[in-house]
Amino acid sequence: MKILVLLLLVAAAAAAGEFTDEELSNFPKLFHLDDYDRCLAKKNGVYCLGSFELTPDVQPNPTYDLLKEYSDKRHFNRTRIHRGYCVSSRCPNLLSNNASLRFERCVDEWAQARTLRASINKLHYCRTHADKHAVPPMTDAQRLFLQCVVAIVALNIIGTIYDVYMGDEPEKNKLITAFSIPANWRRLSVIHEGGDPRLTALIPVNGVRVISMAFTTFAHANVFHSCFYTLNPEYLEKQSQRLDAAFLAGGTALMQMLAALACFFTAYNLLIFSQKRDLTFNMLPLCLLKRIIRISPVHIFLVGFAATWWPHLRDGPLVSTTIGIESAACQKKFWYHVFYVNNAVDKTDYCIAPTWFLAVDFHLYILACSLTLLLWRQRCRALKLYVVLFFASCIFCGIVAYFKEFKAFIYFAIPESIRQIFRNEPSFTSFYLSSWSSIPSCFVGLILAHIQFELDEKRIKLNDYKWFRYLHHFTFPFLFIWQLSGQLARNISSPIFSAVYVAFDRPFYCILGGITLLGLVNVDGPLRKFFGWSGWTKLARVSLTVMMFHWCINMMIAARPVAYGTSFLDMTVDWIATNFITYVLAIPITIMLEIPMQKFLGLLIF
Ligand SMILES: *[C@@H]1O[C@H](CO)[C@@H](O)[C@H](O)[C@H]1NC(C)=O
Repeated sequence: MKILVLLLLVAAAAAAGEFTDEELSNFPKLFHLDDYDRCLAKKNGVYCLGSFELTPDVQPNPTYDLLKEYSDKRHFNRTRIHRGYCVSSRCPNLLSNNASLRFERCVDEWAQARTLRASINKLHYCRTHADKHAVPPMTDAQRLFLQCVVAIVALNIIGTIYDVYMGDEPEKNKLITAFSIPANWRRLSVIHEGGDPRLTALIPVNGVRVISMAFTTFAHANVFHSCFYTLNPEYLEKQSQRLDAAFLAGGTALMQMLAALACFFTAYNLLIFSQKRDLTFNMLPLCLLKRIIRISPVHIFLVGFAATWWPHLRDGPLVSTTIGIESAACQKKFWYHVFYVNNAVDKTDYCIAPTWFLAVDFHLYILACSLTLLLWRQRCRALKLYVVLFFASCIFCGIVAYFKEFKAFIYFAIPESIRQIFRNEPSFTSFYLSSWSSIPSCFVGLILAHIQFELDEKRIKLNDYKWFRYLHHFTFPFLFIWQLSGQLARNISSPIFSAVYVAFDRPFYCILGGITLLGLVNVDGPLRKFFGWSGWTKLARVSLTVMMFHWCINMMIAARPVAYGTSFLDMTVDWIATNFITYVLAIPITIMLEIPMQKFLGLLIF
């Protein structure tokens, strides 16, 4: 294994070492931002943001040739530069009423001094002093959102006062006490001992959830440094070739493990319930309703927040081109989110990108729930069927990937694509975010649920089997090692291999995850202790909010009004700040919205 890693490192180093740092330092800056606030503080200030295409001014042009040679898949496109200029102070002698024309000439002048020409590729905006300082009237949507917040807070205050005032009165109205903050806080912070031992055995799963979420947020912190203007894009270019990039890319596989977990819980809970009552397919609408009650309030609330107030909480030259476009997508796709089709319609417009997972999760929930309700009587047959369907769905994904030329994540995790959060990559928007490509993971979850249920029924203790204990401890490191396979795979470009890799990469990871999960639930050992820590359980209770909200917080943090240097440390700082703020804010959202709405609507409907 060590030799393999060493070889990989050498290969990566060789690939990255073609250009010297000195050559790089002669390149025109890829990103530049003038001081936005100072510029627009002046009455005649004009600030423009756009990207430009560089072409040679004189021939021969070694600078340009070098830029062009450098701009391959592994690097940013250096012939396309990004500029935010204070046109009014940088080029005061260029007089024209047309701001964008002034901007273009201004950048062109700069380029001509370097034997290059610059023509505008995309103008994001030109803003004047008046534009920046205009206070737009509050929109109806913004007002509605504020009213919702006020209503939620009011309900909580009423519920709390009522709950405290009534004390231990047995006749308390449950609908009102659903909004009691102390009661909901207890629900969040107190871990109940006892209960069904089969469910308490699942506690380590919470650790898996929280740690997966931490990996995911770290990957996103990396993505955001690629999205905004950095002083040293070389760092991101080198990083995307390194091993840590393979780990980050492995995050997509991690999401599949969470999808499998969700299906596992769906089926397992239903199977346990079937011992009390017979299941029928007519229960499906009720199950779906329960799911919607749990997920939708927070989902709709955060999408509503993003659609209305999010862009107004941060000011700077890059806010409108990043937070702004996601916010616009939230306005446009609001109803798609309500009906959980946001990953199927307008796929390239993301509104809080991680919400794709909620849609996938909901679709897989329907699948897992239906299958379990239909087949719960014939568990053994169902298990065999699921195994067959697992392979069938993998092969289906591979065939579609082959014909549609969908590539594995590691192939298109290149700087220019990451910069645009993969909006331009059909492999990402149509395959990775789609619900059908996650179906294999769902079957892994279903199979696991049946295995675990059989083990309970037959009172088999996996802990007593040496081979399983070894398997469990042996599999765990492979969860990390498997992600490095991407580093090898990305050098092989045959379409067949690519399709096979796409089809089996994530499902295989899921199987590894499944074995780990079975081990965590059934084998006593250090891993179970670690993942079963009660702190994880508490953190896991706010995971729904964290999953969505960290995206908003991280983007606001990364949208600094200047171009900044990036490095592993800088990303880590952003990541820690994001997690801290997100978890702190997730507590009130969970206590005042998620838990009470779930209780309240549950009481109303069931
Ligand atoms: C780089 O950007 C320019 C201008 O947008 C474009 O014409 C060129 O094809 C791009 N090069 C690569 C390698 O993508």
